[in-house]
Amino acid sequence: METLLFDAKNPGATDAVAEILKRGGLAAIPTETVYGLAANAFDGEACANIFKAKGRPGDNPLIVHICDMEMLSDVVSEVPEGARLLAEKFWPGPLTIIMKKSGKIPMVTSANLPTVAVRFPAHPVAREIIKKTGLPLAAPSANLSGSPSPTTFQHCVNDLMGRVDAIIDGGPCSVGVESTIISLAGERPVLLRPGYVTLEQLRETIGEVELSKAVLEKLGEGEKVLSPGMKYKHYAPKAAVSLVKGSSEKYVNFVNEHAGEGVYALCFDEEAPVLKTKTVTYGSEFSDAEQAEHIFEALRELDSLGATRVFAHSPKITGVGLAVYNRLVRAAGFDVIELD
Ligand code: TXA
Ligand code: MG
Repeated sequence: METLLFDAKNPGATDAVAEILKRGGLAAIPTETVYGLAANAFDGEACANIFKAKGRPGDNPLIVHICDMEMLSDVVSEVPEGARLLAEKFWPGPLTIIMKKSGKIPMVTSANLPTVAVRFPAHPVAREIIKKTGLPLAAPSANLSGSPSPTTFQHCVNDLMGRVDAIIDGGPCSVGVESTIISLAGERPVLLRPGYVTLEQLRETIGEVELSKAVLEKLGEGEKVLSPGMKYKHYAPKAAVSLVKGSSEKYVNFVNEHAGEGVYALCFDEEAPVLKTKTVTYGSEFSDAEQAEHIFEALRELDSLGATRVFAHSPKITGVGLAVYNRLVRAAGFDVIELD
């Protein structure tokens, strides 16, 4: 298939992409978190094509993107009070809320679940495209299934050229990790995936929020997952990755002892100068937002450099750090080395 490439800065670009989507096509579009691979959420056939293009398992539901609260009432059957409070505070922005779905959402979009994940993105290009189509857009991250989420136009081109109808450049994503996902469809609110909107902020807004076990730990065989995406190996570079916990000093000593051919440190900016291995940095030790912004780019870079063994220094697990930790521990296949 021919993939048309657009730059959002050019006049007519978002109109052309909106037309492609209205006709049932697929387009990779920027959001503030990561790029998404969009299709009309009401069109079951178009959504089925998203799964094909990404090589995504059919039991992993898609997030539906809206551009105003009117569209929300079209995709869910009811809006719980908690969702109203969260929407007021965090929408538009990097928060996805799971609610009971309306009859208009096809089974394929929500992978046969009675619920739907809804997000109102803040990125001006995403909002413009949704508005111009006049449709809610289903969009998973625009990577091939299993590889790190794309945070630049080039990442989308690398993964999806020839597999989708269009890719539109809206610059690098400012948040860098996928949206926070909270479920309000069950008895109690549950955080399913940490992101830029933190657990602490959610609790301040609606009270007690449970942290899904799958955020920090590997689930055992047959354990129930609330968010199907959490059970798949994710974000993984080709190298064997270990996540190393401990102070900077201990981390540096440990990695220096393990230096060798193909060995890379995935470390904080401050640590690179004292490491004897090759390094890829993912932000300052003191800025969880910076770490989130760069983590996926760093994982892709390790692949392009040909790393075979990676020791990643674990971030703190508070605030946005919880999101960074969640992605890294999956990239490491839950292989954690404790130095303390
Ligand atoms: O920031 C983001 O959320 C990006 C941008 C493009 O918006 N999208 C994204 O989509 O990360 P994706 O498909 O890569 O991740 C969606 C996650 C999956 O883990 C999926 O299992 C979960 O959301 N999910 C979607 N609908 C769900 C539902 N009804 N119940 C439980 N989990 C759901
Ligand atoms: Mg994804």
